[in-house]
Formats: sequence, structure tokens, C-alpha cells
Amino acid sequence: MTDHKGKLSPLLKQATGITAAKGEGAYIIDPDGRRYLDFTSGIGVTSTGHCHPKVVEAAQKQVATMIHAQATTVMNPRLLELAEKLGELTPDPLNAFFFSNAGTEVAEGAIRLVRQATGRPNIIVFHGGFHGRTMGSLSLTTSSVGLRAGVSPMMGGVVVAPFPHAFHYGWSLEEATDFCLKELDRIFVTYSAPKETAAMLIEPVQGEGGYVPANTRFMQGLRERCDKHGIMLVFDEVQAGFGRSGKFWAHEHFGVTPDAIMIAKGLASGFPISALAASEETMAKGWPGSQGGTYGGNAVAAAAAIATIDVIREEGLVDNAGRMGKRLRDNLDALKKDYPEMADIRGMGLMVGVEMRRGDCPDGERAGNILKECEKRGLLMLRCGPYQEIVRWLPPLIINEQQVDEATGIFEEALKATA
Ligand SMILES: Cc1ncc(COP(=O)(O)O)c(C=O)c1O
Repeated sequence: MTDHKGKLSPLLKQATGITAAKGEGAYIIDPDGRRYLDFTSGIGVTSTGHCHPKVVEAAQKQVATMIHAQATTVMNPRLLELAEKLGELTPDPLNAFFFSNAGTEVAEGAIRLVRQATGRPNIIVFHGGFHGRTMGSLSLTTSSVGLRAGVSPMMGGVVVAPFPHAFHYGWSLEEATDFCLKELDRIFVTYSAPKETAAMLIEPVQGEGGYVPANTRFMQGLRERCDKHGIMLVFDEVQAGFGRSGKFWAHEHFGVTPDAIMIAKGLASGFPISALAASEETMAKGWPGSQGGTYGGNAVAAAAAIATIDVIREEGLVDNAGRMGKRLRDNLDALKKDYPEMADIRGMGLMVGVEMRRGDCPDGERAGNILKECEKRGLLMLRCGPYQEIVRWLPPLIINEQQVDEATGIFEEALKATA
């Protein structure tokens, strides 16, 4: 007999055992009233914390005014206002925005735009990158084989180049960067001729692949090659952007301006909205009507995004991410002296990963056990990396010193409990 009571798909797994009845700032509260310090931020989404009063107020007001001002049918004043505000934040000349719902849709939008704008077929991505789960974005994704398994063949025209992950290669940053730039040049003569290459698409700080920042020389090397060959440079700032890295955009750390930016996650504190930014001139090279979608740029999500930007500015949250990120790193660096199994600590701002190893081997089991022990003690965290060996720290940008110290204190207890 089929049970007709609906349930969630068994393919959907939760990283924690928690039911989130309520959210309040940096805390998730379960149905029994137990409070958990949330260092997951809904995978880097709740930038202003859970249910920030200003975001709640803006969304509630919008719900009562206009919910679905369908973007290809009517003009939506909130979306125009959001575009104006975002334009103050994106680098010149990136002042035009295509709004959609999720990060993966922005990746799809980017694929369409770079191919249409250049008339070229190929896109170079970087090994370990994550850009989404729909077929186009998944084809750009090489952070974990589990995501790609069982759904091939992928979209064609994707070329994977190495990313300067020095710790993985066991090289210095200089050596890893030299190698990656050299391989890129080799790709142009062996795999994808420059005149067939539409774009290079890269996360300034790799997220799901293991919290690995790019570096200035590498990013400048990409920019030089793109300029030389008329290739578009696209930065996926879906996870690292919107203040998380300690600068508003993670690419600001490298002094390199892209031709397009992919934006999502932290943009609206939890409401689903995302944006592709490019110059008006570049956008105009795409095909008319190729950007759209039933729900994209929802009015309530746009109102929440406007409020989120205001809160980030008023409360100095980008600076806070930089300062709290430093404190987090200092606390973790101090712990590493006693726990050498914390093999590498890396990241930027409030996007920090601790790679767990046993000897030379990535230790996903240890990382998983640490998360369970943290949860018992009231701290929620996530993992990433191909072996799920990296304990990742991505609290909301409103986090304070006492909460950072409490979290690293709990982490130390978890290290002891799992030794
Ligand atoms: C860098 C990056 N790009 C794209 C995506 C896809 O976003 P979404 O899950 O909203 O489709 C993610 C999600 O984790 C991401 O981290």
C-alpha cells in the first residue's frame, strides 16, 4: 500500500539534525526552544542574520502592496530601485542587471550572455569550482564528482583549467600560480583557441571546492589574457560576494575588474533573488528576450534586498566581516599549534575553511564527527571539499566577538572529543 501522506524526497539530506522553528540574528531555535549558534547562515545567505527587523519590515510592507510584479510583463518599482542601489556597489562600467532567483540561474544567464555577446562557443572554468546544479551550470562545476555522477553527458564547450590551490599541489603559491598560468596558455594552443573562447568564469574564493582564495598575480594573469584575446572575464561572487570576504566584492582583494559578476546568496538575507551584472553595452550584445523567467526579480525579494544593502551599510557589516574574520583566523591559528590535524586554515573574511587531515590524507570522517560534536554543544557548521574534509565557517556578517570566541571554544571541545 502506498502511503499517501506527502514527504520530502529521500534524496534531500540535511547536514544537521536540527529542525529550525525560528531564526533570530545569529541563532536558530529548535521547536523545544534550544538555541544554536548558526555558523552556516543557510549556506552563506543570511548576511544580516536571521529575520533582521529592517529586512522583515521591508518584506512585510511589500507583501501587503505587491507580491508578483512579473518582470517581463510590467515594470516593478522595487526592482528599478534595487538596480540603482546595486549600481552604486558594482565596479564601473557594470551597471546593468538581469535578476533571477538562484545562483544557478545566474550561471545559466552568464553562459547565454558570454556566448551571444562574443559569438564564441567555449568557456574556461577552474578545477574545483562550483557554479550550480542545473545542466549548464553543472557542466561548469568540478568541485565534487558526486554532483555530476549519473547525469552525463554534460553541456559541451567547457574547458577545465587548473586553479592555484597551492596546499593541494604541495607547492608554494608562486609555483602553483606559475603552473596554472602556463597551463592556461597551453589550453589556448591545444584545446580552445582564443578566438573560440567566449569567457573565463571563476570564483575569486572557491567555495564548495574547499574555501580556496585565488591570488592577485593569477587573477591579473587572467585579466591580461582576456584583454589580449577579447575573452570575457566572469567572476562568480555568489558565495564570496556581498561583504563576506571582508570587502564588498571578493575580487577587490585582487585589484582586477571583471566583465560580469554573478550575485546571489547574501543579496537578500534569505529571500530568493540573484543577479547577473555587466555593462549595458555587454548586455545589449545578448539576444533580445533571452533574459527572463516567471519569478525572477520578485518584488518582495527585491524589497528585502534593498533593506539588506541598507543594513550592510548602516551597520558597517563589511568591516565587521573583516574584523571578525581576523579574530576567527587568530583563534584558529592558535588552536592549530595544539592540533596539527588542522592541516590548513584558509579563506577570506568570514569565509574560512579548516582542512582536516590524518597524516597526508584528507579526513572527512573527522570533519563529520567534529560537526556532530559541535551540534551537541549548540554550534551549527557545515563541511565542504571533495572528501568533505573541510570544516567551514560562514557565520552571518553581524557576528560579534563573543560569538566568534564561543564558536572556536566549542570547536576546540569538539576536536578533543573526536581525537
Ligand atoms: C559560488 C557559487 N556559485 C553558484 C552557486 C549556485 O547557487 P544556487 O544554489 O542558489 O543555485 C553556489 C551555491 O552554493 C555557489 O557557492
